[in-house]
Amino acid sequence: MRLTYTSDVWYKNAVVYCLDVETFKDGNGDGVGDFRGLTQEIDYLAGLGVTCLWLMPFFPTPNKDDGYDITDFYSIDPRLGTLGDFVEFMRTASDRGLRVIADLVVNHTSDQHPWFKESRSGRDSPRRDWYVWSDTPEPDDPKQVVFPDKEDSVWEYDEGSGQYYLHSFYRHQPDLNVGNPEVRDEIARILGFWMELGLSGFRVDAVPFLIENVNPQLANPHEFLADLRAFMTRRKGGSILLGEVNLPYKDLVRYFGDGLGDQITMCFDFIGMQRAWLSMARSDAGPLASALRERPEPPKDCQWAMFLRNHDELTLDKLTKAEQKEIFAAFGPSKDMQIYDRGLRRRLPSMLGGDLRRIKMAYSLLFSLPGTPVIFYGEEIGMGENLDEEGRMAVRIPMQWSKDGGFSQAEPVREVPEGSFAPDRVNVADQKRDTSSLLRWFQLLIERYRECPELAWGEYTVLDTGHPAVIAHRSDADGATVVVAHNLCDTAQDVELKLAGLERYRLTDLLVDGTVDVSADGVVQLPMGPHGCRWLRAAPPEIAPEDASVKAR
Ligand code: NOJ
Repeated sequence: MRLTYTSDVWYKNAVVYCLDVETFKDGNGDGVGDFRGLTQEIDYLAGLGVTCLWLMPFFPTPNKDDGYDITDFYSIDPRLGTLGDFVEFMRTASDRGLRVIADLVVNHTSDQHPWFKESRSGRDSPRRDWYVWSDTPEPDDPKQVVFPDKEDSVWEYDEGSGQYYLHSFYRHQPDLNVGNPEVRDEIARILGFWMELGLSGFRVDAVPFLIENVNPQLANPHEFLADLRAFMTRRKGGSILLGEVNLPYKDLVRYFGDGLGDQITMCFDFIGMQRAWLSMARSDAGPLASALRERPEPPKDCQWAMFLRNHDELTLDKLTKAEQKEIFAAFGPSKDMQIYDRGLRRRLPSMLGGDLRRIKMAYSLLFSLPGTPVIFYGEEIGMGENLDEEGRMAVRIPMQWSKDGGFSQAEPVREVPEGSFAPDRVNVADQKRDTSSLLRWFQLLIERYRECPELAWGEYTVLDTGHPAVIAHRSDADGATVVVAHNLCDTAQDVELKLAGLERYRLTDLLVDGTVDVSADGVVQLPMGPHGCRWLRAAPPEIAPEDASVKAR
């Protein structure tokens, strides 16, 4: 593949920044974040270097699942602004070169959506089949219940119309029936609407749920995804679907579109994410290295989306109970940090005990992993969680702009944490002034990631390092190579890497000044500081810059 046309497939080395308008910045002083506030901060986001914003749901909602329960797909939650404010925001984002994608939550609606009200009004309602109804639902498999703290079944009896309706999530979120062609058309209309307003794509909520459990069963559920993607591409080339598909690799690859790459453009690497946490808990590269080695290559023009944390619980559902326990013990030992028996309701910096060196290493690792990095707002300044907030809301707290919070002049929609992660200790304003801050580190990582498209695009090889705590890989594309190494433990380690084809090359450190030479038999000795990170660009000796000696970092 040639790197020349990278902008056509812009998402392959995008830096995606997920935020909730509600908690990012309040522009009208009512305590709730809004589009006006977000628009004021676009220059901050552009300055950070991110290239694509992912907006969590911003539609009218009773807000029983933080906006993932929608009552109107074609407008804006009045608490967050108006369509006019949205268009102004889009215009400003585009002016600063930022793309925008939004959550597409069409597996279900709120039970307050007019469609559901109509559907439940009687068995002969014209919208009856927009949802999934049954007289005799299949008995529940406990594994199907996503929120076991609140639900014990995925079926709910509707007294009025005397049937059960399906709800893969909360009972107030009835599943739409994509087995019905009218529903499929309506979903395309929703996509078309927001694309006309400038969106470059969608983060698709709960994809496997969306295409399974429908009535009648679709002959080929994946055809629906391919149809949606084709529709988008017809309307606007380069628009994307970023899918929440938390499945084992072998099942997940179908969602890219069986070798064709015509369905979901990018899938989150949930397996890599969970193994990365296991690796960090054990200071052992093994679990993450095995995930990277097992991971199938996505079809042409598709991509993996890499993340360490998101807006939900840190789900560990693809690890064994014993492995989950190891991670709980390392990063979330107390019961109130744990949720649904499979995850943690914490942010990364607090899980790593606020240890800046380790936090910097974790994000350096994230940005260097093969794929497109996705970060959650506030990660760039090391925000912690507020365990006093309910459930997953613990991590969805107001952005910390300044010592006094700076999110709103009024009582904020959610409380910021106290203690070492409070705004007076962790905020944007202070970190902008501090050249060694996490914020500055993010800027550097983003800059380097963008300058090294090999990391996103290239063919990668996980390297043997000879030391269990050090994970290293190389990415090659179009004759260019980047080598990266990360030390997961807090003691210095010297590692030796074998770099076939790079004999006598010079490696230039991209994070600090320094070079290191590869020997005539292709070996490089790499000193790694405690939680050290190395990003090295390889160049043949004749074009490598003359430079300083190697230091441990
Ligand atoms: C996945 C979302 O990430 C989560 O926050 C939400 O509760 C469920 N889907 C239901 O929409």
